[in-house]
Amino acid sequence: MLKDFQGKVAFITGAASGFGKVLAKEAAKRGMKLTLVDIDSDSLKAVADDLSKQTDVLAISGDVSLQATVDDAVKQAMAKYGQIDLLINDAGVVVEGNVWELPPHDIEWILGANVMSQVYSMHDVIPIMKKQGTPAHIVNVASIAGLLAIPGMPAYHTSKYAAVGLSESTSLDLQSAGINNVGISIFAPGFVQTDLHHSETHRPERFEDKNNPYYQSETFKNGKKWMEQCITTGHPLDTIVQPIFDAIENNTFYILTDRDYDGVLKDRAQRIMDTKGPDLGFLGQFLG
Ligand SMILES: NC(=O)c1ccc[n+]([C@@H]2O[C@H](COP(=O)([O-])OP(=O)(O)OC[C@H]3O[C@@H](n4cnc5c(N)ncnc54)[C@H](O)[C@@H]3O)[C@@H](O)[C@H]2O)c1
Repeated sequence: MLKDFQGKVAFITGAASGFGKVLAKEAAKRGMKLTLVDIDSDSLKAVADDLSKQTDVLAISGDVSLQATVDDAVKQAMAKYGQIDLLINDAGVVVEGNVWELPPHDIEWILGANVMSQVYSMHDVIPIMKKQGTPAHIVNVASIAGLLAIPGMPAYHTSKYAAVGLSESTSLDLQSAGINNVGISIFAPGFVQTDLHHSETHRPERFEDKNNPYYQSETFKNGKKWMEQCITTGHPLDTIVQPIFDAIENNTFYILTDRDYDGVLKDRAQRIMDTKGPDLGFLGQFLG
């Protein structure tokens, strides 16, 4: 288990804002050296400049939904530090709208940013951690939206359920391969105050389609308004830091910081066993 952070190396995606930024700060405070990757170069530079006063920082601007970006970032991190002890796969975006109106390329965008980024980094970093043989840990950021579904979010749910499945399966594979020095956690929070509702500003050029009428539709505009409301009234950002580092130190798999959803999670499991699908009335008791 990774308990001693001093002098160790963290590789964090989505480090320019929100969860990634506060986790990078905490890692620096604990004496870790950092590789920070983000598509938002200006914000990344500001974070890197700030943390460079405290520790070694390698800042890499790029789109982690592209394998080449992740491969290159891992190579640069290894060239600079020669090791990676903590991988935090945090980069992510949200896009609202039902599956029959939302342009399918938006689901490709979100799957790339939220899931394929995690596939690419784990593909590169697990062999490095295995070879090191010293305590190492991976935190994959999913969401409570990877454990239960609400309306208007098929793209996000598809990506977050996939991130949960990817992590659960990888945990089993690490166990069966006897790679006991590498721990893994999945972070599944409810709403937290970050900039997630501004995800449009992180849309890579290849997914831009500004003339598509969907982006002028009520479905899209209402979805955006609703997301802004949820994020800006969510839990304070600093509340996620301690639970995540506690989970790293204790190799806790599910990091659940919003226990208001326990009831709905229990009922979901029961409904599956009763062969019942999701139901708006059923969700209403928990979501108000
Ligand atoms: N805020 C919440 O309520 C909440 C809840 C559950 C899960 N999450 C998840 O937490 C993670 C972090 O989000 P946040 O809430 O801190 O939002 P945020 O927008 O503040 O931070 C996300 C960061 O990811 C970066 N990013 C986005 N796409 C990228 C790409 N293709 N390549 C590289 N970097 C990219 C952004 O530039 C940004 O710096 C996401 O995976 C999100 O889905 C957030």
